[in-house]
Amino acid sequence: MLDETVASRGTATPARAFEEIPWLEGATGWSGHNALIRKDRLAFARLVADAARPLSRVKTPFADVVAIGTPEIAHEILVEKHADFIKSAMLRFSLYPLAGDGLFTSDGELWKRQRKLMAPLFHPGALASYAEDMVACTEREVSTWRDGDSLPIFRETTRITMAIAGKTLFDADTFSEADAIGEALTMALDWTAKQAGGPFAIAHLVTSRMLEKSSDASPEPVRAKLKEVAARLRMPLFLPGAEGRTLQRALDHLDAHVQHMIDDRRSGARKNDLLARLLHAHDDDHGVMSDKQLRDEVLTLFVAGHETTATGLAWTVDLLCRHPEWYARVRAEVDALGRRPTLADLPKLEVCLRVFKEALRVYPPVYFFGRTAQRETTIGGVRLPRFTNVVILPWALHRNPRVWPDPERFDPDRFLPAAEHARHRSAWLPFGAGPRVCIGNHFALMEAPLVLATMFRDHDFELLERDTPEPFATLRPRKGVPVRVKKRVN
Ligand code: HEM
Repeated sequence: MLDETVASRGTATPARAFEEIPWLEGATGWSGHNALIRKDRLAFARLVADAARPLSRVKTPFADVVAIGTPEIAHEILVEKHADFIKSAMLRFSLYPLAGDGLFTSDGELWKRQRKLMAPLFHPGALASYAEDMVACTEREVSTWRDGDSLPIFRETTRITMAIAGKTLFDADTFSEADAIGEALTMALDWTAKQAGGPFAIAHLVTSRMLEKSSDASPEPVRAKLKEVAARLRMPLFLPGAEGRTLQRALDHLDAHVQHMIDDRRSGARKNDLLARLLHAHDDDHGVMSDKQLRDEVLTLFVAGHETTATGLAWTVDLLCRHPEWYARVRAEVDALGRRPTLADLPKLEVCLRVFKEALRVYPPVYFFGRTAQRETTIGGVRLPRFTNVVILPWALHRNPRVWPDPERFDPDRFLPAAEHARHRSAWLPFGAGPRVCIGNHFALMEAPLVLATMFRDHDFELLERDTPEPFATLRPRKGVPVRVKKRVN
């Protein structure tokens, strides 16, 4: 039996065989864990959390899959041996119609080049000018709330983060503009969530893998052709059924909108948004990005940048309402500020930040992500064959009791500086880790305290119903966190 001690010794001892990895409990029928992964990903995550093992073997009909249960092994995969892995083929397949070859889904040289081009735009210094937009967009939304309104707060945080993404990315000033794009995006995300693990995706990916494997033994010209076809099969060849046609229409609408914005800036419109900065980003070898690459990056940033933060903010309100002592501390911090928050106030909003970080621990918006081994490698002292799929579940890792004592307890003091320093670097993974860590993490950690401080400044929130997480593309609150909003009388 592979235990935690043996696995953490790393590669010093001879590598053990893949078959020695213990099976994850709860597999049923010929499809093993696949049915559960499709039906209830959180129940699957619970199995991984309960096992709390470095590596657990997941039973699926078509592929070798392992789930990760400790920060040390997550670190080995995402940081130390990141070059042995590429992004999950399944995720890339299902996101492709929307995100194309954007930063989230691309790999290899293209990803490396794009990340280098885009990283400077997301450094904390480069983001400072967006603080004012973050507060202004929040103020505009909260000004529509009336005393006694009952609202699903997730709808409100989505409108806020969508407006912020719209303003900072492409200077969109109206909610209706962001709303129209948002509607098409929601439809595309819905498609993504349904495709992941489904027969359409599996058929493509299994065929692609078979071709890739057979190419190894083929003579050179055939090998190149097989690899090319295999690569093409890693994206959908068409969008099937009535749903596919609806999605295609939504994507056409999005593409036209984005192209219009690109043309506008190319024709000299002066803007200080991220799109304009992306348009001018260039390197010596390749010059500037093509329109198609810009489209993929802008849609990737819009999707990755608003839904995740909106989910985290909605859960923060839910958790605060359920923990009055922390609610009171947030309120005291915002009252002590006594005015509209600005960039310079961020150090004074440290309770807001800690509360948000703890909400991301309890309900990580990206609760599930994956990698595929692109060559044979050794992880936790165990040999993983090429093409092994690795599943990393922040939701389960954030509940490992060795790392997070009493993990179900909401305790923002876990993010006091001393506690953060004492923990393993990959214990808290809401943004991933290593070279592919979320490029927008500084953006989100600046946005959240400013939004919370603006929301709590003139309003109180009363939770109307206890919510539960729904594992959609992100970990959304099923009922949207219904609250009653009360205007504060100062
Ligand atoms: C609370 C908010 C957010 C959460 C929880 C989150 C989570 C994540 C995670 C877990 C990854 C890594 C996935 C992997 O390794 O497979 C990621 C990547 C990414 N995120 Fe975020 N994200 C958030 C906010 C943002 C924002 C605000 C933006 C942009 C403005 C953004 C843009 C991206 C992009 C482009 C990537 C791909 C980076 C790469 O592969 O080089 N995210 N995010």
